[in-house]
Amino acid sequence: MVNESHWTYNIVRIDITASPGERFAAIRPASDQPVDGPVMRGFATFQRVCFSCHSLNKVGDAHLGPDLNVPYSAVEYMGDDKLARLIRDPQSLRWWPGARMPAIDERTLSDADLKDLLAYLHHMAGRKGS
Ligand code: HEC
Repeated sequence: MVNESHWTYNIVRIDITASPGERFAAIRPASDQPVDGPVMRGFATFQRVCFSCHSLNKVGDAHLGPDLNVPYSAVEYMGDDKLARLIRDPQSLRWWPGARMPAIDERTLSDADLKDLLAYLHHMAGRKGS
């Protein structure tokens, strides 16, 4: 689901399709990840909160922001603390009037969800391309 406040387009039609994880194999974690573990929980969070604007491993429907895994994952060049800060308040890291990424607060993404999301992004940093 896309939080309404993050939806950048007008909805003209909704097609029910397979979940992103089914449509895009390249965003899936390794198959040996426990279904209720942090990486799989982070995978669900990623699809709910980030995939509406960002691709990962160059797949996805949205390209509003940069790809979150290739060539480099933000966890590689920013580190967890700065990335967490960017998610909560993008303009606190880089400011310019045209920036479009919204601040994502705890109502949309709890601190626990954010931690899981970082686990997913770290995991995917070891799974480029495919
Ligand atoms: C409404 C669209 C939108 C959503 C949702 C969104 N982003 Fe972004 N993001 C952007 C845009 C657009 C940029 C490019 C900078 C800008 O215009 O703010 C960006 C930039 C970034 C960057 C900076 C990359 C760089 O090197 O400068 C990172 C990292 C990032 N987003 C991660 C995330 C993560 C993780 C999530 C989910 C928690 C997320 N974004 C959700 C639109 C979005």
